[in-house]
Amino acid sequence: MSGAGTVLTSHDVTERLAWESQAPLTIRPSDFKPFPAKTNHVTERNKMKEVCKQCHGKVWVDDHFVKMDKVMIEYNDVYFKPAKKMLDDLYAKGLLDNTKFFDEKLEVEYYELWHHEGRRARFGAAMMAPDYAWWHGFYECKKRYNGYMEEARHLIETNKKAYVYPDFPNATGDTTRPKALFP
Ligand code: HEC
Repeated sequence: MSGAGTVLTSHDVTERLAWESQAPLTIRPSDFKPFPAKTNHVTERNKMKEVCKQCHGKVWVDDHFVKMDKVMIEYNDVYFKPAKKMLDDLYAKGLLDNTKFFDEKLEVEYYELWHHEGRRARFGAAMMAPDYAWWHGFYECKKRYNGYMEEARHLIETNKKAYVYPDFPNATGDTTRPKALFP
């Protein structure tokens, strides 16, 4: 990444980041278990602001990050945490089966909530793309969240196990090395 002002050029892509916004629950980069950054989010945020301030004024830059932080927290608290809690409740009640992921509709819906529109909402806010943050992001989050909760509550009210896809295409878990089709 190029340097700017007092911020040096670096190969460390965890630098300048205050959030791990691609994770299901938005967390600090140092708390990201698969690849924990050896950084402090306050230090990195200040480095990022320093880059922005090469072109923009302080108030403009500060306001951008106020908005972005609010988006991260709102996504976490309003959408992700309640959806995750519902998923855990359904597993605990045995209404969803947790031996295999993606073989029940609510698992797919839960996944897409964070992986699809949940990411678009967060990345859209971070990258100044309002159309992504809202129409492809939070608007879709609301829609999916409502559908997800409706179906989840229906399972609880009727005490009925979710339908299991018997033949989820090509989700075999087979790790055999593929052979060349055309010699
Ligand atoms: C090299 C100069 C430069 C740097 C560095 C820079 N910007 Fe900008 N930024 C611009 C210019 C120029 C525009 C106006 C682009 C346009 O109108 O098409 C802009 C536009 C924006 C906008 C408005 C976007 C919109 O759709 O209205 C925001 C918000 C913004 N920048 C925030 C930031 C943040 C946050 C950073 C640091 C992460 C940053 N900028 C770094 C030059 C820069």
